[in-house]
Parts: sequence; structure tokens; C-alpha cells
Amino acid sequence: MPLLNKTNVHIIKGLDKPTVYHKNMALFDRTDSLFLLDLCEDNSIGILGADGFEIERAQIRPRMDWILDFSSSWSSDVFDWHQTIEASRWAMSELPDGVLMEFVLRMPFNYPDAYLAGRTEFMQLDFHTDPRALIPRLETEVLVKEAGRLLQERVPDLIIDTGTGTGIIPITLAKRYGYANALIATDIDPDALGLAAENAILHDVGVELIQCDLLDSPELRQAISGVGSVLFVANLPYVPERDANLVSADTVYEPRHALYAGEDGYDCIAVYLEQFRGLIETHPNMSIALIMEMDPSHTDRTLSVLSDLGTAEPFADYAGDIRFVRFTRLWKN
Ligand SMILES: C[S@@+](CC[C@H](N)C(=O)[O-])C[C@H]1O[C@@H](n2cnc3c(N)ncnc32)[C@H](O)[C@@H]1O
Repeated sequence: MPLLNKTNVHIIKGLDKPTVYHKNMALFDRTDSLFLLDLCEDNSIGILGADGFEIERAQIRPRMDWILDFSSSWSSDVFDWHQTIEASRWAMSELPDGVLMEFVLRMPFNYPDAYLAGRTEFMQLDFHTDPRALIPRLETEVLVKEAGRLLQERVPDLIIDTGTGTGIIPITLAKRYGYANALIATDIDPDALGLAAENAILHDVGVELIQCDLLDSPELRQAISGVGSVLFVANLPYVPERDANLVSADTVYEPRHALYAGEDGYDCIAVYLEQFRGLIETHPNMSIALIMEMDPSHTDRTLSVLSDLGTAEPFADYAGDIRFVRFTRLWKN
């Protein structure tokens, strides 16, 4: 069960500032402990235990009179997580000044393994993952492999990944396909960009991160205007709201705006395509390619928009569902 520390403090979204870090330990004073407990309650997270410490002149000393241990209920069939919050809250309200607590959490039964582990694998590469961004899905490999195939036809001056989340797409293109020109990754969510930045550092890949709504950014327009070829990639939210009861239960821990895009799931893609059209029409001689992931119910609409602008073709995921569209204009040398 997770011990809150520097690498996984994001396990509860919003709790990225404990009172203090001692080395890797996330430590909480009375006020911050009570705030943590409120967040745990909101997220159905129980407390397995907590240990008190004092720090004096950089020396840490355990406070043996400040230990909470609910682990005996761990083996029982019904772990009453709510009771552990209540008991911890009562204890924390008495916490003296100067004592700092370290917490061990008991996550809900359907909490995603990748968030618990704080890491996941994508195309044999390791990525940090936590609730700041969607957990990378296997089918996105198909998008990346197709992008890799396009890179064999032409190495563009610039790749732009929209809705980058963990940053898997640009980082994998650099690490697995040796792409070494300019990479830009955007997201509307600054927390997701924080995680993408950590993954870019982990893999030593230079990615410019921009917070913006889809392609609507002056920096992006400026970057595009200076180049001769661009590969766009996008795995935007595309789950229809009406299918919310069909998706697996553990998706409730992922950011909602990373999954859903309106009643039929097409809201984000529709706006993206309009912005994409505007951008590429402004640069009629530029070599352009685009690969997008979407719900199979979206491909016909997407193809009809893109086929006015160049060559647009659908392709399938591992299960044989038509989940991707590839677009090219003046691409092959
Ligand atoms: C389906 S996730 C994909 C994450 C990652 N690219 C991947 O393949 O695992 C969609 C991402 O788009 C971002 N997003 C949602 N709406 C957006 C918008 N209007 N502009 C930019 N990014 C957006 C979300 O924050 C999320 O990170």
C-alpha cells in the first residue's frame, strides 16, 4: 500500500504540497494532515497507518507516542476505510505543534495498478504515471507505430502532439524511432504537462511543452510558420458521455477531461479538425501528416473533413476496430 512520498504524492490529486519533505518522506503537520484526510475521504481512500516525527537541526526523530496503526483491519473482509479516516481525524486534531506525520494509505479495491505502482510500460519504455494524466492504453501503440512508419517516408522538421497526457507519444517517437528534430507537446491541463515534463526528463528527450486549447496557441502558430514539414499526432478525449456506464470502473480515477468529450465523444475532435484545417490552409506548400485516434463511430466524419484537404485513410487497432485516421498532404518525397 502506498506510503506517501515524493514520487507518489500525486496519488491524491491536489495533494502535491505536504508541509515538508524530509529526503523522500512527505510529512504533514496538523493542518495539512486534516486537509489530507479530507482529500482521502473525497476519494474513498482509507488510512492504514501513520507515524509521527520531529525534525531538529536536520535530524529526524520518531515520536513513538504518535503512531496510528489500522493494519489489523487489513485482513478483515470489510475494511472500514471511513472509520480509519474518522479515527485519524480525531487523532490529528490533537497533534502538537512540531510533530509531523507520515501516512500509509489504503487505496480503494478498483484503484488502477498503474497509479498504485506510479509507473507503466509503453512500447517497452517506462513512464511515470499518476492521476494527473490518463494511463496510456495499448491501442495507442498502433498510432505511434504508424507515426514511425510515416517518419520513414519523411523526417519532418516538427512533430506536434496535442493532448499529450503522460507525454508517451512524442517521447516514444524520439526514443524508439530516433526522431531528433523539434518536438512540441500540448495539453489543456497544466498537471498533465507537469507529468509529461517528468517523463521527458526521465528519458532525456527535449520536448517543448505548451499549455493551450487544442491547436489554439500563438507559440504553436509561430513554430509552424518557420518550418517546411509537420507531423501532427493527437489522441484526444473521445469517449461518448452516453457510454460512461460502459467503461471500466477504474476509469473514475483518471481525469474526466482526458476521457470524455460531449454526448457522442466528438466535441474535441471536431474543434481540433477545424483548427487543423485553418492552420494547414494558411501554409498550402507545407508537407503535412496527421494521425489521430478516435472512437470507431467517429472515423467516417473525420475522413469526410480530411479528404477535402489531402489523402485521408482509416486504419484499425489490434482488435480490428477502425480507430485511427491517417492524413497526408505533399508528404512523400
Ligand atoms: C485520451 S488522453 C491522451 C493522453 C496521451 N496522449 C495518451 O495517448 O495516452 C487526452 C488528453 O487530451 C487533453 N485534453 C483534453 N481536452 C483538451 C483540449 N481542449 N486541448 C488540449 N488538450 C486537451 C487531456 O488533458 C488529456 O491529457
